[in-house]
Amino acid sequence: MLLVASASLVPAQRYSDPDTLAPAFPTPQGVVERMLELAGLQPGETLYDLGCGDGRIVITAAQKFQAKAVGVEIRRDIYESTLGRVRSLGLNDTVHIVYGNALKTDVSQADVVTLYLMTSSNDRLKPVLAKMKPGARVVSHDFEIRNWKPITTERMMVGTRPHMVYVYQIQRK
Ligand SMILES: C[S@@+](CC[C@H](N)C(=O)[O-])C[C@H]1O[C@@H](n2cnc3c(N)ncnc32)[C@H](O)[C@@H]1O
Repeated sequence: MLLVASASLVPAQRYSDPDTLAPAFPTPQGVVERMLELAGLQPGETLYDLGCGDGRIVITAAQKFQAKAVGVEIRRDIYESTLGRVRSLGLNDTVHIVYGNALKTDVSQADVVTLYLMTSSNDRLKPVLAKMKPGARVVSHDFEIRNWKPITTERMMVGTRPHMVYVYQIQRK
């Protein structure tokens, strides 16, 4: 009884962390590839995935787009398994997994930032995204950035489920 009670507390504690911006739920691989295509990710560019989960976006950026990639993950268990995955794929030189908080991440060197969070979380990330360089792009899966004007939007189906992709570009000053 005691064991059941304490196990059931674990998710509640995770979700009550005020800096948790979204639960762990992966972007389908087909949507990942389309996000990076729509962002125009180029070889040698640097991509950040804020809340990288199992690392599929950063791994795809390195393997299919020859980009450098940084994945930031707040959950230690996910960070550790994603780090192991990156190492087992031999991507240590191009993919960097950080155990950290997206809300405290410096993305000033990013050419592309990817997001799969929530609209309210995107609101909270605006001060972080405001430090991106002119010309850099933000690609968000399913959740828009309120009051930003996208340069591209695309709706795609994966099975019976629709997915939205929003692409934004940081304006030159
Ligand atoms: C919906 S999943 C998206 C995973 C991956 N980006 C994808 O699209 O497949 C969101 C991830 O963000 C992580 N996360 C939530 N809040 C975070 C924060 N403040 N900083 C870093 N990671 C966070 C979650 O633990 C989870 O792994």
